[in-house]
Amino acid sequence: MTRKWIVGNWKMNGSLSANQDLLHAIHAGLSTASCQAAVCVPAPYLAQVQQQLLGSALWWGAQDVSAHEQGAFTGEVSAAMLRDFGVRVAIVGHSERRQYHGETDALVATKAQRALAAGITPIVCVGETLAEREAGQTQAVVKRQLAAVIHTNGHCISEIVVAYEPVWAIGTGKTASPEQAQEVHALLRAQLAAATDHPERIPLLYGGSMNAANAASLLAQLDIDGGLIGGASLKAADFLSIVAAASQ
Ligand code: 13P
Repeated sequence: MTRKWIVGNWKMNGSLSANQDLLHAIHAGLSTASCQAAVCVPAPYLAQVQQQLLGSALWWGAQDVSAHEQGAFTGEVSAAMLRDFGVRVAIVGHSERRQYHGETDALVATKAQRALAAGITPIVCVGETLAEREAGQTQAVVKRQLAAVIHTNGHCISEIVVAYEPVWAIGTGKTASPEQAQEVHALLRAQLAAATDHPERIPLLYGGSMNAANAASLLAQLDIDGGLIGGASLKAADFLSIVAAASQ
């Protein structure tokens, strides 16, 4: 893995005018970047983002995708609909969806499958809670979460992106140390190696309070191929600093 990935997850933030300013500033500062940058925006803004970023090196994506193809699923957004708006990547199984919307490992695996079938790269999130870490269950939890996705997606697994996001590090300012993150990334890489011939081609992103100050040391780790950025992706200068750290 040479080219790193920096993906912003805006979560439920933004407005037409704020998005326009943020995208303009990111786009303007991206010219020298040699990493793959993307922003995952709230679904109602996909048309705006598509219009503003068409032809840009900055990709755009969604924060979720339905596990169903189409039909009577009120409130859901299908992979085909996302594709209509030029979406290249979609986050699936973010811990906030697992926690607040009861998403199971099996559902997340199906969502990844729907994305892949529509030509969208799923960014599959895995990660343990603080209680699970303290109980020594980190490895078992992330392995179980990834195993479901591998089981459902078979050889297509080489087309996914994985994000390790320890739940205790999300939005808390408590970043996993580079060593803690690397340890889990190495484990995920080994698990992927059993499922695909080229596990090194699957980008493994770290997420959880990554910012301009700590990005470089995390990204220097052998198995950390990029970042999934929440809070710091809402400020152009911070996001661009992380992009710069990933472009070294
Ligand atoms: P923060 O960077 O705000 O901790 O969020 C991380 C995250 O959840 C990205 O998906």
